Amino acid sequence: MTMAAPKITVLVTGGNNGIGLAACQLFAAQSNYHCIMTSRSLEKGQKALSSIQASNSTATISLVQLDITSDASIAAAVKEIEAQHGRLDALINNAGVCPMEFSRSILHDCLETNAVSPAMVTQAFLPLLLKSNSPRVVYVTSALGSIMKRANSEDETYNENYRAYRTSKAALNMLVACDAWEYRGQIKVFAYCPGYVITDLAGQRDMKEKMGIAKSPDGSARGLLLIAEGKRDDESGKFLGQKKVHYFWLTQ
Ligand SMILES: NC(=O)c1ccc[n+]([C@@H]2O[C@H](COP(=O)([O-])OP(=O)(O)OC[C@H]3O[C@@H](n4cnc5c(N)ncnc54)[C@H](OP(=O)(O)O)[C@@H]3O)[C@@H](O)[C@H]2O)c1
Repeated sequence: MTMAAPKITVLVTGGNNGIGLAACQLFAAQSNYHCIMTSRSLEKGQKALSSIQASNSTATISLVQLDITSDASIAAAVKEIEAQHGRLDALINNAGVCPMEFSRSILHDCLETNAVSPAMVTQAFLPLLLKSNSPRVVYVTSALGSIMKRANSEDETYNENYRAYRTSKAALNMLVACDAWEYRGQIKVFAYCPGYVITDLAGQRDMKEKMGIAKSPDGSARGLLLIAEGKRDDESGKFLGQKKVHYFWLTQ
């Protein structure tokens, strides 16, 4: 009798909404994956989980509470996943915020969620990632974190503000470069921009729907699956778009 291959375990932060939810839906639909949807609110997570299970009765998915800004929540999630799975193959640091105002506390909170917390999540899951045969970590970033784009008056986003968000994603981009170096030879690390897609980020869902140029987060999720599957391993340490390496990574 042949044993079934163990499922690839993938964890998505902020899995209850937007790109994270689309990613959970897609990973859970793959027969070779077990998707760990995490959500800071168990109530929202349960609702999202039920919606996935209602549309796919064979979805392989579980829910774990995880507020990435809380060390206690991170430690509890690591413990729970260690007990359930013993290892983690792919960590998708997706959760993020995009405030439109700017003050000390807003910038602080934005940096905390978008840069400090993903760093702490990866560090906490390191022992479980190192138990995987081919561990991968993805940081969901944004082209708005490019210093070159901010400084280029010809750029299509030049007149968009996003001061705190841009600053936090620039910090996150440096974290990716540092982690790729730190874990070289052990873990593949990627920065991934999911594209301009329709979600609740910054309360812009209605505006994006009306504008008609933002896409569905399903495409962003497909890009994450490609990375988790190892199809983009030769681009580890780089800033990836859905289909190609972004040109501005080296010139930041
Ligand atoms: N949408 C775009 O066009 C776009 C473009 C480039 C990059 N991105 C990036 O894509 C990622 C996902 O954004 P999205 O567009 O899908 O936005 P979204 O729909 O607002 O989803 C954000 C997710 O992050 C979660 N989250 C926020 N703070 C958290 C915390 N402290 N702990 C755990 N989860 C937390 C949210 O949970 P709650 O539901 O509890 O708030 C939600 O599940 C972000 O990193 C964003 O910067 C998005």
